[in-house]
Amino acid sequence: MAKICGIILFVALILAILNTSASEGQQKKIRQKREWIIPPHNVRENVNYTNREYIAKIRSDEETRTSIRYSLTGSGADQPPIHLFTVNRETGLVKIHGVLDREKTPVYYLRGVARFLNGSHAEKDIDLRIVVEDENDNAPVFNLTTGAVYERSAI
Ligand SMILES: *[C@@H]1O[C@H](CO)[C@@H](O)[C@H](O)[C@H]1NC(C)=O
Ligand SMILES: *[C@@H]1O[C@H](CO)[C@@H](O)[C@H](O)[C@H]1NC(C)=O
Ligand SMILES: *[C@@H]1O[C@H](CO)[C@@H](O)[C@H](O)[C@H]1NC(C)=O
Repeated sequence: MAKICGIILFVALILAILNTSASEGQQKKIRQKREWIIPPHNVRENVNYTNREYIAKIRSDEETRTSIRYSLTGSGADQPPIHLFTVNRETGLVKIHGVLDREKTPVYYLRGVARFLNGSHAEKDIDLRIVVEDENDNAPVFNLTTGAVYERSAI
């Protein structure tokens, strides 16, 4: 009898552990929900990235539920210089189509838009800031949750 009780206790303990890790997994998923975006790679001036498959990716968690169509808006996307950056409407991968000049434009403030097939917004637009790095600067620090944030140090 004591042995059976022991086994039941053991099983209960395992269930308790499984339960805990399950809820931890759920928390992780919820946290991921806010991660809408893969931050941009370093984008240096005077470097030709046009052959890269992508320099950033926008993504909506709604993607798991239904089809999403992505688009970009802002200067460098749907405003001059038009189509310097484009997004694959289905994958959310952001491509660059020109070589950047930091003196001309140090930062591009784009917004990623995610829509359902019926055209309504799936999420709030996401800021996609693309910071053009100086040719001679050190590698910048990217914040995974906030995208690219880069303060230029004194010359
Ligand atoms: C960038 O590279 C591509 C592919 O090699 C080339 O076609 C394009 O002319 C280059 N752009 C510039 C501005 O050098
Ligand atoms: C558009 O589609 C989404 C997802 O299928 C749905 O949740 C939403 O209610 C729809 N909006 C309209 C205005 O029909
Ligand atoms: C990155 O995020 C941390 C906290 O999330 C913040 O303290 C830090 O200042 C951020 N760094 C940059 C470069 O924005």
